[in-house]
Amino acid sequence: MEQRPSPATLLSLESLCARVKGCTACSLSATRTNAVFGEGAVQARLMMVGEGPGEVEDTTGRPFVGPAGQKLDEVMDSVGLRREDVYITNIVKCRPPGNRVPARGEMETCSPYLEAQIALIQPSLIVALGNTPTQWFLPDAPGITQSHGSFFAWRGGILVFPMFHPSYLLRYPSKEKGSPKYLTWIDVQKVKAWLDAQGAATES
Ligand code: URA
Ligand code: SF4
Repeated sequence: MEQRPSPATLLSLESLCARVKGCTACSLSATRTNAVFGEGAVQARLMMVGEGPGEVEDTTGRPFVGPAGQKLDEVMDSVGLRREDVYITNIVKCRPPGNRVPARGEMETCSPYLEAQIALIQPSLIVALGNTPTQWFLPDAPGITQSHGSFFAWRGGILVFPMFHPSYLLRYPSKEKGSPKYLTWIDVQKVKAWLDAQGAATES
C-alpha cells in the first residue's frame, strides 16, 4: 500500500482527483469498482459531505446518484437548490463493502483528500449528511438527532450544518410533525435562508 497522502502535495482539484482515482492507501481500494472523488461547482459556497459511496456511486464513480442521491435531490429541490449550486463529496472516497460505516482508520487515511478539497473550494457552509460526517467535523457535538439543524463554527470561519442522511429519510418515510423528513424539510430551508442572506450581504 502507498503512504497516506500529504495535503500539501494535492494542489489542484484535477491532480487530487487523479490521485484519488488511483489511490490504494487503505483496504477499501481492494473492493471498490470506482473511487468517487466528488463533483459540483468549484466556486460553490455550499459543500455537502456524505459518508461514503454506495453501490450506484461505486459503479458510476459519481457521488449521490443512487436512491439516497435522488432523495437528496428532492430535499434540495424543495428550496430551489440545484446540483450546480453545490459541491458534493464524501468522507471516504471508496465504497465500504455492504455499505458498512467506514472504519476510523479508513476515514483517517482518506481525510487528507477531503481536507484538500475543502482548502481548494473554500466553502462558507458545509452540510454534513448524517452522523459519520458530523462526527468527523464536530467530534464533540451531540448525535445527529440533537445536532441537526444547527450551525456550528468549524475552522477559519467555515460553518458546519448537520442534517439527516437521505438514506435515513428513505428508511423513515413518515412526514408527520417531528419525523426526520419533516425536520429535514425545515433544516434545508435554513440552509437556503442562510445562503440568500450571504448573497444579499455580498451584493450590497
Ligand atoms: N451515501 C453517501 O453517504 N454518499 C453517497 O455518495 C451515496 C450514498
Ligand atoms: Fe484511498 Fe480513500 Fe479510497 Fe482508502 S477510501 S483507497 S484512502 S481514496
